[in-house]
Amino acid sequence: MSKALQDTSYKLEPDNTSLDRFPGNFGLPIIGHMIEFVKDLRGLVTRQIEKHGAVSKINFMGNKGLLVAGPDAMQKILLDPNRDFSNEMGFKNNLAKFFEGGILLRDFDEHKVQRRIFQSAFKNDPMRTYVQTMNEIMSDDMDAWQDIENFVLFPHIKKTLLTTACKIFVGVERGTPAFDRLYKDYIDMLEGMASIIQIEIPGSKWAKSQAARRDINDFFREQIPAKRKSGDHDFLSFFTKEKMDNGDYFSDEDIVKHMNFLVFAAHDTTTASIINVLYQLALNPEWQERIRQSCKDFATEHNKEALSYDDLEEIADLEHTMLEAQRLHPSVPLAVRRTIREVELEGQKIPAHTKIWLPYFAYYRCSKWWTNAEKFDPDRFGPGREEHKGHSFLFIPFGGGAHKCIGMHFAKIQVKCFLFQFIQRYRFSVPEGYAPWEMLIPMPKPADGLPLKLERITQA
Ligand code: HEM
Repeated sequence: MSKALQDTSYKLEPDNTSLDRFPGNFGLPIIGHMIEFVKDLRGLVTRQIEKHGAVSKINFMGNKGLLVAGPDAMQKILLDPNRDFSNEMGFKNNLAKFFEGGILLRDFDEHKVQRRIFQSAFKNDPMRTYVQTMNEIMSDDMDAWQDIENFVLFPHIKKTLLTTACKIFVGVERGTPAFDRLYKDYIDMLEGMASIIQIEIPGSKWAKSQAARRDINDFFREQIPAKRKSGDHDFLSFFTKEKMDNGDYFSDEDIVKHMNFLVFAAHDTTTASIINVLYQLALNPEWQERIRQSCKDFATEHNKEALSYDDLEEIADLEHTMLEAQRLHPSVPLAVRRTIREVELEGQKIPAHTKIWLPYFAYYRCSKWWTNAEKFDPDRFGPGREEHKGHSFLFIPFGGGAHKCIGMHFAKIQVKCFLFQFIQRYRFSVPEGYAPWEMLIPMPKPADGLPLKLERITQA
């Protein structure tokens, strides 16, 4: 085994696309299933499973491989006891164009070494200060929302969370040139990521996003010497001071790559999570009232306007609501890996070097596992029901195994802190008969960004 672990020759092999014996097809010439992927990922995955079973052919822009679904397969792939599945080779032709060397794109022992860079930044004491920062920025921003006509949540929450990320991850304050640079770069980079034509034609979204990526990396590189000497409590400062087992600092290039991926991993996922929580609470006013009351009771009993780090587990309804919104609208619907050797999944032998797509959400609305599966019902996660425990890899919004989301706790904190403040300030609703297109790619959210009618309850 240990010989196999150190052998990285799998990285030199091309993708295996000789998959004739598997059911399904590779879709349209050149683009494969890309149109369905962007327009209706949920429908595509459901149809594939219904028609072809748990394993079937799939093709995204020439990335030919297999779609593999089911809790047993997820467990085997994510826990990966024999080190059969490579993240780096899975993500090579997509995320790697922006995040080569990011922690999600590292394999095995190298991944283990590199993941240590995060350890100080996620300790309890820094987390306490992040909670304070989040609460302050959120409070200022949401107070201003009451004066906005035709309020649409998406651009505002995105701005609030990117502002929070700049401060907590990089120590950059709103209103500074450094903030403006980083803020614009991340908007440009994220906007271009889902481009179908990935050629740097001047002025195109793709070209802008690649230029932004380069500038983000330059920005982090420039900051490293000063951050290493500083006593700052942002992620970049922690990363510059973290050491590997041999006592050396992580290299500047590693720090840059981890920072760039971190801001990406933290940002859109949490933005989507908050949007979908509010979307569901707007559609389900009885739940909105129940959570408002739970938050008010807690606020009154403890005399608090915002949650502190030690309060975060106290209101079970907040946790269950976030999870239920993730079940219906998963922030990360899909992952990808590549086999290193022949493996057996769902009773089928999958050849070496085959890309496999894992639709995490495939069974999140399946009546076999969930009662009234389409219904928003946070209590399904509560004591006595705990439907998510039907299989340990049935519900995996934060993934599992070695690459399980390192920011899960941070993300939950952010959603809970936001909701606690927002729901006590505003009663919110959507237009009568609101039934938007619920997109999944590039971000799961109502496609119109969620227009909300805000009714102020408490005054600023
Ligand atoms: C609702 C919010 C979030 C969701 C649903 C989410 C989900 C996930 C999932 C599913 C993975 C595993 C992907 C895979 O195995 O291919 C992952 C990895 C990761 N997430 Fe999150 N995430 C969220 C927020 C965050 C936040 C706030 C941070 C940082 C503060 C973060 C940092 C990361 C990192 C660094 C990884 C890679 C870990 C590794 O490869 O070792 N995520 N996330």
